[in-house]
Amino acid sequence: MNGKIKVGVIGCGVVASTHAENFLKNDGVEVKWACDLAEKKARSLARKYSIEKTATDYRQVIQDPELDCVSVCTDHASHTPIVIDALDAGKHVLCEKALGATKKGMDQMCDAHARNPELVFSGVFQHRFDPALRALRRLVAGGVFGTLLNASVQMRCLRTNEYYRGDKWRGTWAQEGGSLLINQSIHFIDALLWIVGGAEQVCGAHANITHGGVIETEDCAAAALRLKCGALGTIEATASSHLEWEPTISLHGSAGSVEIRDKKPVKLKFEKTQDEETVLRELSGDAGPGPGESSKAHYGTGHPAQIADFLDSVRHERAPFVSGEDARHAVDVVLGIYRSHKTGGWVDINGCKNKEMQAI
Ligand SMILES: NC(=O)c1ccc[n+]([C@@H]2O[C@H](COP(=O)([O-])OP(=O)(O)OC[C@H]3O[C@@H](n4cnc5c(N)ncnc54)[C@H](O)[C@@H]3O)[C@@H](O)[C@H]2O)c1
Repeated sequence: MNGKIKVGVIGCGVVASTHAENFLKNDGVEVKWACDLAEKKARSLARKYSIEKTATDYRQVIQDPELDCVSVCTDHASHTPIVIDALDAGKHVLCEKALGATKKGMDQMCDAHARNPELVFSGVFQHRFDPALRALRRLVAGGVFGTLLNASVQMRCLRTNEYYRGDKWRGTWAQEGGSLLINQSIHFIDALLWIVGGAEQVCGAHANITHGGVIETEDCAAAALRLKCGALGTIEATASSHLEWEPTISLHGSAGSVEIRDKKPVKLKFEKTQDEETVLRELSGDAGPGPGESSKAHYGTGHPAQIADFLDSVRHERAPFVSGEDARHAVDVVLGIYRSHKTGGWVDINGCKNKEMQAI
């Protein structure tokens, strides 16, 4: 496509500034609409980024014939109707994580994209643009780990009662769709699954240990994974840690092991010194572009790169680096953990199309 790309930001809360700012860093882009149910928030974003138009109803935004794309920055449950309506209105869509809060909603979004295959549909997982995690994926694909045995993610973070009380949608099954797993941990669950090639089955449990009476969802979780590559994995997470944000990914293969904490290698041991040196060199490369002024440190450095990739895919009519369809796998795994907690058994990720999953 030629000419200026016109974007609407739907949802003008915490993450919206990161989107507006990073869209505007690109040449030939105008952020034309700021939309929020709360008019004050839409106006505030519009003022900050000189956005021409504001709305409280996203349907007004997607009816604008001049608009090319929308960035969906609302609560998880509302992603589904907004994404579907935007795609059916002919707009390219970048949707924040988690793509959806239910299996049925994600099926419907993917169906809408199938009806409009010429449009770009991308899900935000900005950590896939982190140089160290990309390098780790390349190294796994290149076989330096030998046969992969274990792959795990540990997510430690701190989310206080005040954080949950701050917004009504957080800590609810209906709007957030869960909490610690589907909101904070999902970044690194996705990274792990992307690095090792996805999961077939999951079995897990969750608990609310320190946020009782404040949230109905989980602040602690643990799960086992059967990975497509044959290795076994684990997920361990808490939102009540005094480590405010500490994601760790570990991979153990027949030829060597690595542990990456907050994208830095903290443990490395390979059978061959030469492999160890290669891995260390690859993982310690350039940290990539900065996160941008409006981003919190824990968002990492990926939003600028993912938004640039989204715009490039719109301009050149190509698939984005993270498609919506691809961004749902981590959500399917998380929904599988919630399901497994109820049933006490393994949940088949490929079998998520069954009615039981739709009931979550
Ligand atoms: N990728 C990241 O690092 C990252 C960081 C923060 C948040 N997020 C994601 O971004 C999304 C938003 O999170 P947030 O922290 O900005 O939430 P927030 O509560 O601060 O903002 C969400 C806004 O959406 C608005 N909204 C809800 N439904 C709407 C509708 N139908 N039309 C218009 N506006 C509507 C709300 O009024 C609210 O202002 C979530 O999916 C969250 O998980 C991602």
